[in-house]
Amino acid sequence: MKESEDVFRRVRLICPRCRQGNLETASERAVLCPVCDARYPREGRLVDLLPERNSPLSAPQHVMESSLVVPIYDSLLWRRNPLLQMFMGLTFDEEAATILHALRLKPGATVLDLACGTGIYGRRIAERFPVSFVIGLDLSLPMLEFADRRFDAQSSQDLLLIHGDAQDLPFGDGTMDAVLCGGALHLFPDPAKAIGEAGRVVRPGGAFAAAAYYRRQSWLSLFVEQIAGLIGGIRGHSRDEYLQMMHDAGFEQADLLHEGPVWMVLYGVKG
Ligand SMILES: C[S@@+](CC[C@H](N)C(=O)[O-])C[C@H]1O[C@@H](n2cnc3c(N)ncnc32)[C@H](O)[C@@H]1O
Ligand SMILES: [Zn+2]
Repeated sequence: MKESEDVFRRVRLICPRCRQGNLETASERAVLCPVCDARYPREGRLVDLLPERNSPLSAPQHVMESSLVVPIYDSLLWRRNPLLQMFMGLTFDEEAATILHALRLKPGATVLDLACGTGIYGRRIAERFPVSFVIGLDLSLPMLEFADRRFDAQSSQDLLLIHGDAQDLPFGDGTMDAVLCGGALHLFPDPAKAIGEAGRVVRPGGAFAAAAYYRRQSWLSLFVEQIAGLIGGIRGHSRDEYLQMMHDAGFEQADLLHEGPVWMVLYGVKG
């Protein structure tokens, strides 16, 4: 890993408390805001910017933090389960190929894997593209800790993992060459805010691509909405609503690269 100061400067890591200071290394175990003196815990390349998170977890988020789910998340039992094709209209490998092709990553790119979970996307990027830097951000600390161990095992690529909220990104404007978000827009309370934040942190000409559940006029979508209504924490938005959010966030040429039964791949380039 590059010197952390270099890395923090590159993404201009913003203090979530005062939104003024750019975080600096205080020690091996902490980062510090020079403006408000807030300190945040750090364990190697994992920085916890939500150390006092105490908002109640939605049902899906409970699942995303469960020690039963985290270890199997990347496997054929969950994210890469072939049965999901019925709903998604494509395999995970096809989804990932669509997203990574759309991002058109150049050597040396800085890429944000938003709601990275266990790093299923970030690791692929680190393995297959000569990017210089992958940043994974997620609300689930257990997911990030697992991602950290898996990156160690599989890749020596530079990496920063942030415990944070996709709707309030701790990075400076235009610091990312590309942003991707796999399987999570429908879990955010306010996806327009998260897409707006992606639009803020990606540089002009940089791309954003996301895979997510979307609402359609179909019995399958109606069924999913019923289940989502029962468990809570999953929000359906239509194709047009997502395209409007992209437009509002400053993304041009926004379009759907895949329109499955209830799963889409959304894409746009920052103007
Ligand atoms: C279904 S997983 C997707 C993981 C991975 N990106 C993928 O493509 O498989 C959804 C992830 O979104 C994260 N998440 C949910 N709400 C979030 C938020 N507001 N900010 C950041 N991450 C969030 C969860 O913790 C979980 O790791
Ligand atoms: Zn501060």
